[in-house]
Amino acid sequence: MTAQLKALSAEIELPKGIQRVIPLPNDQLGVLWSSIVLDAAIKEKLLAQAALNFAMRGKVSRTVIPLHGVILLVGPPGTGKTSLARGLAHRVAKAFPQEKFRLLEVEPHQLASSSLGKSQRAVTELFSQAIAEAATSGPVVVLLDEVETLAADRTKLSMDANPVDVHRATDAVLVQLDQLAEKYPQLLFVATSNFPRAVDDAFTSRCDLVLEIPLPSKEACAEILKDCLTGLGVTYAAIGKLADKAGFAECAAACVGLDGRAIRKLVASAIATDIDTALHPEKVTLAQILAAAKAAKAARAAAER
Ligand SMILES: Nc1ncnc2c1ncn2[C@@H]1O[C@H](COP(=O)(O)OP(=O)(O)OP(=O)(O)O)[C@@H](O)[C@H]1O
Ligand SMILES: [Mg+2]
Repeated sequence: MTAQLKALSAEIELPKGIQRVIPLPNDQLGVLWSSIVLDAAIKEKLLAQAALNFAMRGKVSRTVIPLHGVILLVGPPGTGKTSLARGLAHRVAKAFPQEKFRLLEVEPHQLASSSLGKSQRAVTELFSQAIAEAATSGPVVVLLDEVETLAADRTKLSMDANPVDVHRATDAVLVQLDQLAEKYPQLLFVATSNFPRAVDDAFTSRCDLVLEIPLPSKEACAEILKDCLTGLGVTYAAIGKLADKAGFAECAAACVGLDGRAIRKLVASAIATDIDTALHPEKVTLAQILAAAKAAKAARAAAER
């Protein structure tokens, strides 16, 4: 997160477990949304579900449709889930220009790492006080990043390895979600997880939408690589031109199977091939980028073995 974005956070002492509060809309978050290359239908579905939450949830009885105001994004690491969740907050706020939306970012580790016996209370306090209070003063999007740390699957937790408190923290999240869903229709949780199987089934069942964010397609890999090179082109003009050269398609094809984060990072790794290129990044070649892509794929294959 950039320093500017941090500066935008309300400069007040934040309740425990809340990392940051960002007034919406926020153009930097809009840039995040656009920077994630993804099937337009997936982005549209996500935005439509968020819009429905704020447009309809308050007007329809929960006995008719039991909406909880929770969206879960699942998928491999580095596929853009957190970026999309933040970007979504901006985009949905833009859809309701007369309302003052805010984004609350929860830091689940802070709660989960509370000393023994405290995380249940910390979770309850966060939801029933901090989040509920925020929801009384306007529409709020709450980012629950890495939600498996908060709503851990109770069936998979061994009582020996995991203190009873972790089970109780999951129970507390579920109780709180039900209560908040009942009271605050102007609230939307956007949760993310790399480990959907580690998330408690009762949490997943409360989600209004569970969306799988896949690894980028072949076309998306090319677009991400191009975007990265063009972005570097702002500082190093020669790098920006690489995307139009013969050999670019081969580099893009070599990225298939990697996530968006890995694709962007391999460009840095290509620039760091040797000290001369590192000191003069504009000298980086497509051959170096291809080699870095192959190395990233080989490293991934080795890690999966
Ligand atoms: N589909 C994509 N298109 C463009 N860039 C992407 C894509 N996926 C990931 N990235 C880049 O990778 C970086 C990491 O993205 P982000 O943190 O949102 O991923 P994540 O899915 O939340 O990862 P994790 O599961 O490890 O938390 C971002 O800076 C983003 O630019
Ligand atoms: Mg993430």
